[in-house]
Amino acid sequence: MKVIGINGSPRRNWNTATLVKDALEGAAEMGAETELYNLYDLDFKGCTSCFSCKRIGLEEHRCAMRDGLTPVLDAVTGADAVIVGSPIYFNGLSAMTDAFLERLFFPYVTYGNGPTFCPRVIPSAFIYTMNVTEEQLDHYGIDINRFRRFTKRVLGRQPDELYSYNTWQYQDYDRYEHQIFDMESKRIQREQVFPKDREAARELGRRMAGQVESSL
Ligand SMILES: Cc1cc2nc3c(=O)[nH]c(=O)nc-3n(C[C@H](O)[C@H](O)[C@H](O)COP(=O)(O)O)c2cc1C
Repeated sequence: MKVIGINGSPRRNWNTATLVKDALEGAAEMGAETELYNLYDLDFKGCTSCFSCKRIGLEEHRCAMRDGLTPVLDAVTGADAVIVGSPIYFNGLSAMTDAFLERLFFPYVTYGNGPTFCPRVIPSAFIYTMNVTEEQLDHYGIDINRFRRFTKRVLGRQPDELYSYNTWQYQDYDRYEHQIFDMESKRIQREQVFPKDREAARELGRRMAGQVESSL
């Protein structure tokens, strides 16, 4: 059983990466072989609209672009499950996570020829980390519905999800310009809530691997 982790944050050891790694550890506890990819280490572009993946008579629908993302797309296509982490940037996904999902999903999107060209169901989970608190989320909102919808349509199943709020953004808040943060709530988040998010991520990984195991 293979579970792939995707870190869509430019930072390799901060909030998003930590939670994705925790989820992979949870999956590994259940016997999964795991692999982590850091998207910002790779040289790649989003979909270039070449439509090679939509030509008539293809045996397999895969992205025709060949670049740093190609091995990641191959790994996800061959995996039993994928866990994607992204920081929320301007209410959406990070640019590289967006670009990754364009390239992963579009070859499987059909224009009426069945629901998806993806040859099998690939269970997925999304981990989102963000600066807003859970209470502020209604006001600021995040624009992830389109990916939730396309994940179900293309990969064949509703994704599992984990939200980590009010994240610790930099090591030392005294060195950065900010007026709006409640430092007491940030401290509580870092010392008490984030460890729970990490446990929830581990549990998510265990849950995903458990589902895969029971379907094999
Ligand atoms: C370019 C940029 C845009 C951001 N936009 C938002 C936003 O719209 N909403 C939000 O809650 N946090 C926003 N943040 C904060 C990050 O989502 C948050 O700090 C996240 O946990 C960072 O993930 P990382 O620690 O894994 O890099 C933004 C951060 C950056 C750098």
